[in-house]
Amino acid sequence: MNNNLVVLGAQWGDEGKGKIVDMLTAEADAVVRFQGGHNAGHTIVVGDETTILHLIPSGILRQNVDCYIGNGVVLSPHALLEEMTMLAARGVEVANKLFLSDGCPLILPCHILLDQARERARGKSAIGTTGRGIGPAYEDKIARRGLRLGDLSRMDRALEKLEAVLDLHNFTLKNYYQHEQCDYAQLADQLHTWSEIMLPMMTDVSARLHDLQQQHKKILFEGAQGTLLDIDHGTYPYVTSSNTTAGGVCAGSGVAPGSIDYVLAIVKAYTTRVGGGPFPTELNDSVGEELGRRGHEFGATTGRQRRCGWLDVVALRRAVHINGVSGICFTKLDVMDQLEELRICVAYTQDGQSFESLPFNADNIENCQPEYITLPGWQTSTVGMTDFAQLPQNAKAYISKVEALLNVPIDIISTGPERNENIIRKRIY
Ligand code: GDP
Ligand code: IMO
Ligand code: MG
Repeated sequence: MNNNLVVLGAQWGDEGKGKIVDMLTAEADAVVRFQGGHNAGHTIVVGDETTILHLIPSGILRQNVDCYIGNGVVLSPHALLEEMTMLAARGVEVANKLFLSDGCPLILPCHILLDQARERARGKSAIGTTGRGIGPAYEDKIARRGLRLGDLSRMDRALEKLEAVLDLHNFTLKNYYQHEQCDYAQLADQLHTWSEIMLPMMTDVSARLHDLQQQHKKILFEGAQGTLLDIDHGTYPYVTSSNTTAGGVCAGSGVAPGSIDYVLAIVKAYTTRVGGGPFPTELNDSVGEELGRRGHEFGATTGRQRRCGWLDVVALRRAVHINGVSGICFTKLDVMDQLEELRICVAYTQDGQSFESLPFNADNIENCQPEYITLPGWQTSTVGMTDFAQLPQNAKAYISKVEALLNVPIDIISTGPERNENIIRKRIY
């Protein structure tokens, strides 16, 4: 039985994780975020209502599902309250089914100022962050000076920590970046307000998940970002600041490695990337534009236009081995409906040598040329299909080719943004 299911992105994010998590939670008891923060933008479409979640797990729309934010998530109190308000306006009650780990590092306004100041200072080599303070908040965690949610239960100590952190960051902001600073008195006030709302939701998440596991409950671990944005395994330095890969589940939520039953990798049928950094299969032509237009490839968090390109099996091979992928959910197949032909990158060439897999840091892949195979398109609509047998022959051939190249089964195929637009080839729970 697959009670403990990990769902994560295999590319550079925005693969459709939110949609699939929402769909799968029809059968789950709990959903857990274990890394990242409100840099994520997970879109859920139910009927004609679209909900974009940044921080709260994508199980929140299901009445009987409890949602957990693990210690690996950097928590912006401001973003959390904003999202709770948005959901309340839609009739979704959050406070009684959202649980926050006391170990979550807090994102403070000074982290946002630092994130933005650093990006500006980087000029042309800017990472293209979401500007949400994610990197600086993780830096404070690693430097062992950051405030954690649990600190708010002893406000006197929290205020001391806050003062020390602001001293340091305001010094840097003022003297290094010539940037505006953060006001201590105002932030101290905010800490009081935030603590009143958040402390009642604070829980020992690791212990709660352990209990649920003992009771054989179904838990879904929801990844944010994607494998190629992993701080260690991605296209460093053009990455986010957390471990987005399956290893991050255990560290970021306090469950044991042996308890994970199944890793479902979400793979978009083509590739997109938002922000800077190398992207070997990027298409700067009319095909790239068409994918962007048909796929509505604009960031769910920042509204930025996403870069589009062909499916990259070299990158996916690494995603499969790093994450121990059990099965794939292939999304946005319908976006490719109109194409005359499709390409898949199966190797990279660099200095006359061919590679089928390689470490994915930015320098390594910067001058790689993709080697493609070409498959015929199907040029008929697959929008909303739910039966594999209905798919056009060439769409089936594309799917089989990807399965063969990666040696992993494609268990689910997503054929539209709506919750029910899926072909389920294998029931995971
Ligand atoms: P996430 O960050 O991985 O959750 O993905 P995003 O929500 O940022 O981006 C995925 C986008 O594609 C959203 O607008 C979804 O509504 C949409 N989407 C998801 N699956 C499909 C699909 O199979 N077909 C189409 N056409 N759109 C999809
Ligand atoms: P979801 O969960 C796509 C990218 C940013 C930038 C880099 C670092 O919706 O797939 P950060 O603000 O994290 O320091 O930015 O990571 N990025 C994402 N790209 N989807 C996301 O989340 C992303 N979250 C961060 O664009 O290149
Ligand atoms: Mg997204």
